[in-house]
Amino acid sequence: MSVKYNLLEYMREKNDYVSGSELGAYLGISRAAVHKHIDKLKKEGCQIDAVSGRGYKLLKSGDMLDPEEIGRGLSLKHIGSEILCYKTLSSTNDKAKALGEEGKPSGAVITAENQTKGKGRRGKSWSLEPKSGIAMSILLRPAFSPEYASNLTLIAGMAVNRALRRICGVDCLIKWPNDIVSGGKKLCGILVETVTEEKDIRYLVCGIGINVSNSSFPEEIEKTAASIFTETGRKYMRRDIIKAVLEEFDILYDSFLDPANLPNIIGEYKKSCINIDREVTAVYAHKTIKGIATDINSKGELIIKTENAEEIVLRSGEVSVRGVYQ
Ligand code: BTN
Repeated sequence: MSVKYNLLEYMREKNDYVSGSELGAYLGISRAAVHKHIDKLKKEGCQIDAVSGRGYKLLKSGDMLDPEEIGRGLSLKHIGSEILCYKTLSSTNDKAKALGEEGKPSGAVITAENQTKGKGRRGKSWSLEPKSGIAMSILLRPAFSPEYASNLTLIAGMAVNRALRRICGVDCLIKWPNDIVSGGKKLCGILVETVTEEKDIRYLVCGIGINVSNSSFPEEIEKTAASIFTETGRKYMRRDIIKAVLEEFDILYDSFLDPANLPNIIGEYKKSCINIDREVTAVYAHKTIKGIATDINSKGELIIKTENAEEIVLRSGEVSVRGVYQ
């Protein structure tokens, strides 16, 4: 455990003023070094009161993304074998894939404060506002077939949806396959990338980008993007959301490993899915089709009944829903 984290934990437990010498003795460092670490914590957003003769008191811890803060109190079955937090990455998905190649274990979680080449679906980019948004990826090495993995993309959306409801009280909808939507605007995007070897999955990466406390957006997306702040008027700690997403993902993933649970999972997904019974437009076999989305099948595919009563099964792709951002 890092000195900084031990210091934070000690102040948290004391919940009162602690002298620099007591902290120094506990951590085995000088008072000057304690002071330096206190300054670092303040720079990272912690509110710490310093009173001469009494010492330091932690008033509020900052929204730091570090492995110890995210991992605190987290004990999951499949996720969080390692938590790696970076200041700047090109993309958390790319880093997770590189770590996948290096043999990092299943369940590793990667976060970044900043992404220089954040990736969206279908070759688009994803913009992350530092300190306001979450960029995280989960590396998984499942034993199931690549075909079954397509449903994992739904699981990721459900995990975010459950987490946002629990932590922020915001009731979002999911636009198939996994855009999280509130007030007709998108507040989270998910990009699942699967690397296969012959008929097996070598590893897969589930990348999640959530707009948390953004109050505005770049012009190109301002009409289509939302954040938890724009939806609730409240600012939440990113790490509380990350923890909740990991917890919900772990529960859902565990259940997903037993195919007998799939009907229930798809059932829950459908309740939140904005597409069902709505007029949708999609590109299918190089043609634009219009119709009503009627169902999601056991493979997580979207069923569309077209204007000429044809039934189309959509495995992936961009589907626009009337009344929701395009
Ligand atoms: C989308 O187009 O809706 C998917 C957006 C996915 C963005 C996330 S941010 C974390 C992870 N790293 C990336 O480069 N992309 C995903």
